[in-house]
Amino acid sequence: MNYLNLDTKKTKETVTELNILLSDYHVYYQKLRNFHWNVSGENFFDLHEQFEQLYDDAKIKIDEIAERILTLRFAPVSNLSDYLEASSIKESKSDLSDRDMVDTILGDHGKILKQLSAVVKKADDAGDEGTIDLIGAYIRELEKTSWMLDAWRKKTAGTYKEA
Ligand SMILES: [Fe+2]
Repeated sequence: MNYLNLDTKKTKETVTELNILLSDYHVYYQKLRNFHWNVSGENFFDLHEQFEQLYDDAKIKIDEIAERILTLRFAPVSNLSDYLEASSIKESKSDLSDRDMVDTILGDHGKILKQLSAVVKKADDAGDEGTIDLIGAYIRELEKTSWMLDAWRKKTAGTYKEA
């Protein structure tokens, strides 16, 4: 047991998943900056602004995840090379169409949602309500953001198909 009355061995398993999540958010964050800078076309103003809102939100979550790991008395992964290695999210080129950028971000949201679930599963095993509370809110927010991006995609796309 640690100072939070949590089993250290089980908590370590939660932290392993949290560090992967931290890595995912870093790669996702930089991709959003990439798209914020390089989006072009008639949707420029909407998407330039939307990508900024998303990376501002990701920036807050990056800090919260790292500080949750520290609260659990473990070390957050802190180098870019380690993030790239640990994350299932891949970097993107900068010359994508606006629509491909939104598709890419939605795909990344799917990967992040999977990782969020992996964290909750381990936190549940460890009786770690604080982590469940933090990450549960992330799931709800990311699902809502994904719905909004998907709605944008339907509005603009003649070729949209139901998933
Ligand atoms: Fe900007």
